[in-house]
Amino acid sequence: MSLRGKKIVLAVTGSIAAYKAAFLTRLLVKQGAEVQVLMTADAEKFISPLTLATLSKKKVISALTDAEQWSDHVSLGLWADLMLVAPATANTLAKFAVGICDNIVTAVYLSAKCPVFFAPAMDLDMWKHPSTQHNIKRLVSFGNRMIPVGHGELASGLVGDGRMAEPEDIVRLLDNHFAEGNQFKGKTALVTAGPTYEPIDPVRFIGNYSSGKMGIALATGLANRGAKVNLVIGPSRISIPDHPNIKVFKVTTAQQMYDKAVQLYPECDVAIMAAAVADYRPKQEAAEKIKKSASDMTLELEKTPDIAAGLGKMKQSHQLNIGFALETNDEEANAKAKLVKKNFDFIVLNSLQDPGAGFNHDTNKITILKKDNTQKNFELKSKTEVAADIIDEIAGMLFPGNGNHN
Ligand code: CTP
Repeated sequence: MSLRGKKIVLAVTGSIAAYKAAFLTRLLVKQGAEVQVLMTADAEKFISPLTLATLSKKKVISALTDAEQWSDHVSLGLWADLMLVAPATANTLAKFAVGICDNIVTAVYLSAKCPVFFAPAMDLDMWKHPSTQHNIKRLVSFGNRMIPVGHGELASGLVGDGRMAEPEDIVRLLDNHFAEGNQFKGKTALVTAGPTYEPIDPVRFIGNYSSGKMGIALATGLANRGAKVNLVIGPSRISIPDHPNIKVFKVTTAQQMYDKAVQLYPECDVAIMAAAVADYRPKQEAAEKIKKSASDMTLELEKTPDIAAGLGKMKQSHQLNIGFALETNDEEANAKAKLVKKNFDFIVLNSLQDPGAGFNHDTNKITILKKDNTQKNFELKSKTEVAADIIDEIAGMLFPGNGNHN
């Protein structure tokens, strides 16, 4: 019953599935949620605002302005604990994806600070179209959550994917979302992410291909479950969601990442080292651009501090340390050696031999190797889903006996 007292903006757009919005509203209200319904002009052709106003016990808002007043989309976007767009048409999803703002639903979407869930509803071919799929991918990359479509008979008579999820399933999902939102309440996490750059001279550096995606997905997943997250991230081009629970510390070098992590570590309950830290740096950083000379050149390198090993030494009994191992050969043996050497509670192994795993992919395929020698293998998944698996594992260790996945 996590929906009790939650403020939900339910945005209904123009699809035949709009009739399901009545059931959805009734179920949400029954669970104790306060529901503000928004409708597009097309949605009103499928279901009457009077029906939804009666069920939600609130006037439906369908225009940015009416004869008497201007609807304050900004305060609605701030008021809501969650925005649910159901049904979400291909047209509305496309507008969300590019930031078009031409009705109350798109205006509230652009102003919303809360999590946004959308339940697509459309015909089979519209659903499959690369344009729709591209838009959905973009929305998911913004941190919006897609509620998977169902398979079955569609309004066109065709059978396939594209049906809006059933109201009962949507309500269950939202209920889980709010329950999850408190799982890590009161806990603090430290996440290192991205590459580090070690300067050679003012214009060159030693770096690596890490994108920071995995670390950002972990930080977001933990923050969504209520943890306070300190994200220490090296130079990454990926945008970091603006989340009230995430504090971002941008660093460049391994030394800076080490210093920040060591400073933040004592207050944290769990540290995840997802950064691809350079192991070596030039012994001297040239003050001026190194000029090309006739002969070959040699760079003298020295070791950088090992952040994970340093935090492993500082670790207290209430703290959990999680590491990553990206290996190309002898994967398990190498990962196990790192697990012990760096005092990790578990290590997440990804092999570069698995297609779709590792740097710069949106997907990853992991194995979790634990201190007690047990291991779990996972399928190739999106980095958001991989982060959820890792966080479930952490939850199982932090809150044993709470019905987590251990
Ligand atoms: N790590 C770290 N600081 C470093 C090097 C690595 O915190 N200077 C962390 C990584 O974030 C990762 C784990 O240690 O969680 C293993 O990193 P990896 O690069 O695989 O291990 P290395 O110890 O550098 O060993 P090698 O490069 O020889 O495989």
